[in-house]
Amino acid sequence: MMDNLLVAVWILLLFVTLTSTKQVILEKQPFPEKTWVWSPSRPTTASGGPRGWTKQTYYSTCDLSLDEFPQPNNWLRSDSIEIHSGAKTVLVTIEYRTFNCSSYSDKGGNYCKNYFDLYEHQSWQQSILDPLTNKASYIKIAKTAPSALGIKVTQKFRVEVKKKYILLAFHDQGSCSVLFSLTVSYFVCPELPRISSLVFLPQTTAPANNSKPVEVNCVTNAFNKQGILSLDCQSDGVWNISTLNGSCICREGMENAVGKCEDCPKGKYNDGNGFNCTVIPSAPENVQVIFVNRSALELQWQPPVVTGDQTHVFYDVDCRKLCEDDDENMCVNNACGSDVIFIPKKDDLNVNHVILGNLSSFVVYTMQIFAKNRVSELARRKDGTEANFGEISVRTNGSVPGKPEVFVKQPKTAVVLSWKIKDKNGILKEYYVTSVRKDDLSKTQTLVTKKMEAQFDLKAGKTYEFQVFAINNFGRGPAGVKTFTLRDEPNVTMYPSIIYGMVGLLALCIASFTSYIIYSRWNRRTNVNRGKIPKTKKSSAMVYENVSMGSVAERQKLDEFRLDRDQITTMKVLGSGNFGQVFKAVYKPLKSEVAVKSLKDNAKKKDLQDMLTELDLMKTMRPHPHVVKLIGCCIEKDPPLIVLEYLPYGDLLGYLRKSRGIEDPYNTGEKRPSSTLTEKDLLSFAWMIADGMSYLSTMKIVHRDLAARNILVGDNKVCKISDLGLARGLEGDIYTRKSQARLPAKWMPPESLLYGKSTTMSDIWSYGIVMWEVFTIGESPYPRVKSREIAGLLQKGYRMPKPPHISQELYSIMTNCWEEQPKSRPTFPWLCSAIKRLLDDFKTYVNLEVYESHDYINFDVADKE
Ligand SMILES: *[C@@H]1O[C@H](CO)[C@@H](O)[C@H](O)[C@H]1NC(C)=O
Ligand SMILES: *[C@@H]1O[C@H](CO)[C@@H](O)[C@H](O)[C@H]1NC(C)=O
Ligand SMILES: *[C@@H]1O[C@H](CO)[C@@H](O)[C@H](O)[C@H]1NC(C)=O
Ligand SMILES: *[C@@H]1O[C@H](CO)[C@@H](O)[C@H](O)[C@H]1NC(C)=O
Ligand SMILES: *[C@@H]1O[C@H](CO)[C@@H](O)[C@H](O)[C@H]1NC(C)=O
Ligand SMILES: *[C@@H]1O[C@H](CO)[C@@H](O)[C@H](O)[C@H]1NC(C)=O
Ligand SMILES: *[C@@H]1O[C@H](CO)[C@@H](O)[C@H](O)[C@H]1NC(C)=O
Ligand SMILES: *[C@@H]1O[C@H](CO)[C@@H](O)[C@H](O)[C@H]1NC(C)=O
Repeated sequence: MMDNLLVAVWILLLFVTLTSTKQVILEKQPFPEKTWVWSPSRPTTASGGPRGWTKQTYYSTCDLSLDEFPQPNNWLRSDSIEIHSGAKTVLVTIEYRTFNCSSYSDKGGNYCKNYFDLYEHQSWQQSILDPLTNKASYIKIAKTAPSALGIKVTQKFRVEVKKKYILLAFHDQGSCSVLFSLTVSYFVCPELPRISSLVFLPQTTAPANNSKPVEVNCVTNAFNKQGILSLDCQSDGVWNISTLNGSCICREGMENAVGKCEDCPKGKYNDGNGFNCTVIPSAPENVQVIFVNRSALELQWQPPVVTGDQTHVFYDVDCRKLCEDDDENMCVNNACGSDVIFIPKKDDLNVNHVILGNLSSFVVYTMQIFAKNRVSELARRKDGTEANFGEISVRTNGSVPGKPEVFVKQPKTAVVLSWKIKDKNGILKEYYVTSVRKDDLSKTQTLVTKKMEAQFDLKAGKTYEFQVFAINNFGRGPAGVKTFTLRDEPNVTMYPSIIYGMVGLLALCIASFTSYIIYSRWNRRTNVNRGKIPKTKKSSAMVYENVSMGSVAERQKLDEFRLDRDQITTMKVLGSGNFGQVFKAVYKPLKSEVAVKSLKDNAKKKDLQDMLTELDLMKTMRPHPHVVKLIGCCIEKDPPLIVLEYLPYGDLLGYLRKSRGIEDPYNTGEKRPSSTLTEKDLLSFAWMIADGMSYLSTMKIVHRDLAARNILVGDNKVCKISDLGLARGLEGDIYTRKSQARLPAKWMPPESLLYGKSTTMSDIWSYGIVMWEVFTIGESPYPRVKSREIAGLLQKGYRMPKPPHISQELYSIMTNCWEEQPKSRPTFPWLCSAIKRLLDDFKTYVNLEVYESHDYINFDVADKE
C-alpha cells in the first residue's frame, strides 16, 4: 500500500518535472512587489499632457483627446534589457487593462482606441533611444488584443532575439489603459539530474521554434551502451523524452535505482547489461544417472529453484574420478582426463542433460553440475562465490580385463617376462602366466601371480610362447601372447618363479620333511605318460616282506566276502601304478562287470598292508550309495584281489576334464560324459562326495586320500568315494602316522603335513580341495607349486584364491574347510546341508558362462622331486 503510494507520488513528480517548462526571467516589473523600477521611468508624450503614461503604482494612460487636439502619441520605454545565454526568442508577458471606448461619452472621441502597440529595438551595445524621436529605429511587434475590455488581462508576445540588448516601447494612441506588470523571459529545457533512462539533462535554452536535439550524458556510474545520446528540447522548454536516442546502463555491480546507479545489495550481483541486480542460481535439482555402461554415462537434472532475474540458467559439468590405490600415475589430480568427451558440451550447457563418453571401465566418477546465470562469473570474481552445484557419483560398469601387452627380455642368462595392462576394467586379482614350449607341449608351465613379471624354468635355444591373461572380479580377459626364442647358450639359469614370496627359510626346512612324500597316483600317471602299458600278470612271485601269510589266511577263513578266483575273468587293465593295478573283469556268478584291484609283483610289504587295511575297512561298512561297494576278495593266494563294483565313467578328475573336451589319458572311464556339465551337476557332485564322506566319518574312518581322482563316477552321474588304500580306522580321535608313507601333499592340511596327524578334520580340508577341483572342472590345485613347497605356503597362511567364476558363497565354504585350526573347520553333515541348500537355490553359484573351457590349460605337471 505504502509502496504503491510512493510509486504514484514518484510518477507524479516525474511527470511534473518532465512537463514543467522553465523560464529564465530577464526583466520583471514591478520589482520588488508593487515598485516599478524603471529608473528613470520614461513616459514620453508628444503633448506632454498629463494624460500620457503616468506612473502611479502602475503605469497608466487615458489620453482621450478631443477633436481639436492632434492624435495622442504617448510612449513608455523600458530600460535596456540584456539577453544572455543564447536565447533565441524572448517572451514578453504583460498584464494590463484597457477600457471600452464606448463606455465614454462620445465614445472617447475620434482617436479613442481599445488597444495600444508594442515596439522593440535591438542593439549590440547598451544604449537608450527615444522612440518619440527615433520611431524608425523601433519595430512594431504587435498591438494588444485584450480578450475582454475593462478587466485585467494577460498577453504574451514572442520577440525573436537578434542582438544582445533589447528596448521595449509601449505606444499609446488614445487608449485608456493600465499596465500592471511586465515580464521578459525566455524558455529553457530544465536541468534534470535523473530520469529513469539514467540520462543527465542539463538546462538548455530552448530553440526559437519547433525543437532541437541536445547531446546529453549518462548519470554517474552509468555508461552509454549504444547510440549517440541525444534528446529534443522543444521551443517551449520541454524535453521530448520520446526522442531520446541511445541508452545508458549502470556499471557492473550496480543497478538503476530510480534514475541513478546504486551498488547491488549484498548477495546480489549485476553484469553491465542494464538489468537489475540478481542472485546466482541455486543448485540444480535431482541430478540423476539415467544410463551407464562401461564407457559412457548420461546425466539428467531439474533446473534450480532459484534462477535469478532477467537471465537464463546454463550449466557447467565438472568430472572427477576416484583414484583407486594402484592407479599410480594414470590418475593425476583426480581429473577425468582429456579423453573424456561431453555431449553436447562440457560448459555453458543450455539443456538439462549431458552424456559423458570415452570413460574408463569400473571407475567411480563424480560429476558436479554447476548452475550459472549472467552474474555467476562476476560473483566468483568479486567475492569468490562459487556456483551452486548438484553432485552425483557413479561407477562405470566393469568387464573382464583387457589384453596384457607382453614383453620378453633375456638380458643376461635369465629370461624376464613382464607385461603391462591398460584396461583393468575391474579389480584386478591376478595374472595367469603360461609358457608353452613350441616343440614339446608337455613342457607347459603355468603360474599365478599378482606381480607384473615372472620367470620360468626354460631351456636354452628353445622357442616358447608366453601367454598372460588377467583376472579381475568380472572374470578373465583375453590373453596377451609373445613368442620368444632363447639364446642357445649352454648354461641358461632360470630361476623358478617366486609366487607370493613363498620361498623362505621355513619352506626349505619343510621341504626336507616333505620331500619323501611321493604321491603314488602321480607316479602311476607318469608311467602311463611314458607309454608303459603294464602287463597283466595273473600270478607272479610277490615278495611280502615280514608279512605272515598265516595271519592273512586266518582272516580269509572267516571271510564272507571270499570269492572264487576262477569265476573272475579279466577283460582289460583300467589303470596301473607303481605297485598296483586295476582291471575290468566279469564275475560270472553275478553276471556283471566288476573292478578288480591287485598288486604288482614289485609291491612292497607296505602296499600289501595298505591293501589289506582297505579291505578290512570296507568289510565293516554297509553299502552306501556314495561309497564304492565291496563285492568280495580273493586273498588266499597271490596275487591278492579285491573285487569292487565297476563304475564305467572312471575317476571324477578325468571325467571333469573330459566333459570339457580335454583328453585325460589317466581316466579309466570307458564311457564318456554325455554332455557338458551344468552348475547343478557340479553342486550335486560336491554334495554326493560330502554325503559319502559323512558316512565314512560316522564310521570313524579317515580317508586320508580324498581327491577327485579317488572319486569314481557311475551311471546317472553318481559319485562314489573309492581308494581307501590310505584310510585308517580311528582308535582314539587322531591317527598318527608312524611310518613314512606316500602322501598327497596338495590335498593335505598343515597338521598332516607337519605332524602327520590325520583326523576327519583333515579329510574336511581335502574335501575343500576336492570342491575346488570340481568347480574348476578339473584344474590342478596350487598350479605350478611343487608338493614340497606346500607346507611352507600353508604355514604362511596362503590359500588358493577364489576362481573367478564361482560365487563368494561357494568359495567361503571351501575356505572354511581350509581353516588353520582343525576344530574350526565344518563337519561333513554340515557341508552336506550347506551344499544341499545351494542346490535348492535358484541363484548362480558357478557361472560357467564366464568359465571358458577352451582356454583351459592343463596345469597338471608332475612334481619334479
Ligand atoms: C464596448 O461597449 C459597447 C457598448 O456598451 C459594446 O456594444 C461593445 O461590444 C463593447 N466592446 C467590447 C470590445 O467589449
Ligand atoms: C522558425 O524560426 C526561423 C528563424 O529562426 C524562421 O525563419 C522560421 O520561419 C520559423 N519557423 C516557424 C514555423 O515559426
Ligand atoms: C539514433 O542513433 C543512431 C546511431 O547512433 C542513428 O542511426 C539514428 O538515426 C538515431 N536516431 C535518431 C532519432 O536520432
Ligand atoms: C516528441 O517527439 C516525437 C518524435 O519526434 C513527436 O512525434 C512528438 O510529437 C513530440 N512530442 C511533442 C510534445 O512535441
Ligand atoms: C528493477 O528494480 C526496480 C526497483 O529497484 C523495479 O521497479 C523493477 O521492476 C525491476 N525490474 C525488473 C525487470 O525486475
Ligand atoms: C551397468 O550396470 C548397472 C548396474 O550394475 C546395470 O543396471 C546396467 O544395466 C549396466 N549397463 C549396461 C549397459 O550393461
Ligand atoms: C555405452 O553407451 C554408449 C552410448 O549409448 C555407446 O555409444 C557405447 O558404445 C556403449 N559402450 C559399451 C561398451 O557398451
Ligand atoms: C577416447 O580415448 C582414447 C584414449 O583413451 C583416445 O585415443 C580417443 O581419441 C578418445 N576418443 C575420442 C572421441 O575422444
